Amino acid sequence: MRLDLCTWQEVDAYLERSSGIIIPVGSTEQHGPMGLIGTDAFCAQAVAEAAADRAHALVAPTLALTPAPFNMAFPGTISISPDLFAALVREVVEGLTRQGFRHLYFLNAHGANIAPLRDAAGDAPGVAIRSWWDFDKVNDLRRKHFGDWEGLHATPSEIAITQATHRTVPPGDAAEPPRQLSTDFIRERAGDRHGPPDEHRRDFPDGRVGAHSALATPEIGREMLATAARAVADDYLAFCSGGDPAVD
Ligand code: NI
Repeated sequence: MRLDLCTWQEVDAYLERSSGIIIPVGSTEQHGPMGLIGTDAFCAQAVAEAAADRAHALVAPTLALTPAPFNMAFPGTISISPDLFAALVREVVEGLTRQGFRHLYFLNAHGANIAPLRDAAGDAPGVAIRSWWDFDKVNDLRRKHFGDWEGLHATPSEIAITQATHRTVPPGDAAEPPRQLSTDFIRERAGDRHGPPDEHRRDFPDGRVGAHSALATPEIGREMLATAARAVADDYLAFCSGGDPAVD
């Protein structure tokens, strides 16, 4: 159930039976030749809404403008500073908490959000921060379908989800695999620790970072979405029933 499609009276009634809400967090940035600019926002929102259907939860509007400075040399990317993003998250938490929400579950889809999310809300009582790929069953699926070609950015998994929910862009030159990344490189860049924008575009000219986006299919996207939604719903319900949020 989407918060923005409810009336305030419906939210009031919801709060009589639940104090939980899922807040999707994405990005607005290039995702290679096959990936939509809104890929992360769409993935977070789609998984959140499907999980919320299972868990009878509310879903807040997606936080789609987030830090992605390294992709600013690609047109279409909109990046805000980590400080601004952290301030936004803090105010969302404060506002919802004041209204009676006690279990705020951030569902993230963008590596560069993790550090500022933790800075802003990691210690707040009643806040959980997860990414949709945090769950074993989701990772088993990513490995099974794509192995090392999952890569770091414009991954076939995230593109498969947006193919299932939005549209499929033909691969063109991206039918060819990208340059393969070393394990060291992948470890160093976890959480989107990429360099300055011009350097990043020079090193990864079509925007893919070790990810063979063309392996994505809408069928895999539907499977990925359903698997992630089940995992998130279970985790969200466990979080909400986890007793005193002050110690969560
Ligand atoms: Ni992404």
